[in-house]
Amino acid sequence: MKVLHVAAEVFPLVKTGGLADVVAALPPALIARGVNARLLLPGLPAILDAVSSPRTVCTFGPLFGAARVRLVKALLPFTQVPVYVIDAPLLFGREGSPYQGPDGRDWPDNLQRFGLLGWVAAQIAAGGLDPDWAPDLLHAHDWHAALACAYLAQHPATGVASVFTVHNLAYQGLFALPDLPLLGLQASFGRPQALEFHGHLSFMKAGLQYAQRITTVSASYAREIATREFGCGLEGVIQGRGGDVSGILNGVDYTIWNPEIDDALGASYSAHALDGKAHCKAALQREMGLAVDAAAPLFGIVSRLTAQKGLDLVLGALPRLLRLGGQLVLQGNGDAALQAAFVAAAQQHPGRVAVRTAYDEALAHRVIGGADAILMPSRFEPCGLTQLYALRYGSLPVVHAVGGLADTVTDASPAALAAHRATGFSFRDANIHALEGAIERAVALYRQPAAWRDVMRQAMACEFSWDVAAQDYQRLYESLSGSGAP
Ligand code: ADP
Ligand code: GLC
Repeated sequence: MKVLHVAAEVFPLVKTGGLADVVAALPPALIARGVNARLLLPGLPAILDAVSSPRTVCTFGPLFGAARVRLVKALLPFTQVPVYVIDAPLLFGREGSPYQGPDGRDWPDNLQRFGLLGWVAAQIAAGGLDPDWAPDLLHAHDWHAALACAYLAQHPATGVASVFTVHNLAYQGLFALPDLPLLGLQASFGRPQALEFHGHLSFMKAGLQYAQRITTVSASYAREIATREFGCGLEGVIQGRGGDVSGILNGVDYTIWNPEIDDALGASYSAHALDGKAHCKAALQREMGLAVDAAAPLFGIVSRLTAQKGLDLVLGALPRLLRLGGQLVLQGNGDAALQAAFVAAAQQHPGRVAVRTAYDEALAHRVIGGADAILMPSRFEPCGLTQLYALRYGSLPVVHAVGGLADTVTDASPAALAAHRATGFSFRDANIHALEGAIERAVALYRQPAAWRDVMRQAMACEFSWDVAAQDYQRLYESLSGSGAP
């Protein structure tokens, strides 16, 4: 079966979050299972510069404001996954984030930029661009790629089915409704039953309404997005899709996230030889200007700074964390007010709180490897990869029991501890008091080194394999084979 994945970012070339890790790992996992998978990406400079063996498949345009568009076929570095790249310098020839300019604002022509991504995807699917290859199925990720599902629906004769994966329902790609004609979609796509959302044009709805199947990245989040609390106003649409919506948990690329072979760490370690972990902790404390103290439980955070991640709760719980003798290291950037509050906390508590606002992949490995525990009090979390990485590094996750966090961390309750099943600490209510309670339990267990090590070993033994996820996607694809035309 031939499958075209469509996305806006891919690790390590362009990454704003976990989406990039998934887009890098899923196609190779599918290829390893015999699926003929390819990827379509926008021609951001970091992508065009890094792919190998590029050749022009075709040129076309003017389209979406780009005078001339070149479709390039190439190979991704490292995995050698075949990739189509849309070379449209006027739309994509911009450094930095795929979504925002250096001023932190969305690019004003995102409608055209991601309209083009969806349009090209549907054209490749319809067999109109590459005479040598066309997919049986199109798999679009997040709102950036969602319009592909609407373009396919506009030309049902192709018979190509589509799958849409929601990585985060909170980012919806909303634009001015009167701009619909710029996309070349029929006027009927502007109706509420189609792409209209509270007077706007919603790219997210294109995926939710027109894909044959909708997946999201954990079973819990698949249930949650059908509720008012987590549905971001789209719960009605999701409920309307009934059994077409399911959850497939993300995996981890253990060739990248593994303390036994991690070049970013000063020492390697494993569940059977934990000594190197203490070295990583001391090195992180030194690097961050924290007191080098093996006895102080070191809490780490690696996160985008957004409301989603519940980091305001960490600010509220910080006095308690420090009174308990803990230290905090935060690596994150984003929301200016949150960033300022954490920087102020670091200034107020030198040697005990450290903050780095850099986006730095190697540092993320050192924080996750060096911390004793990783805090993720997210208000919602579709899957969350950071806690999965933390588990493998024996850095026990402290999580709000929601979405993928609820599905992947087993709380250290007395029963789970007794049964040697505990892998971290979770709390039910998203408030400061509940987070403080989880931190207290973590510190209490940390003071019992044998019990802590036992939980570390359970955590490190967890296996979130991409092969299992790829098998679920493959089954889904096969169930849809030939069902593209309504
Ligand atoms: P999300 O995609 O919502 O941000 P995930 O937990 O799925 O959450 O994925 C986050 C990814 O981004 C992880 O790979 C994490 O290590 C990485 N990350 C987040 N912030 C930074 C940062 N400042 N520097 C480096 N990596 C980061
Ligand atoms: C989104 C979600 C995160 C998920 C990632 C990859 O960014 O916020 O929970 O892990 O996508 O699916």
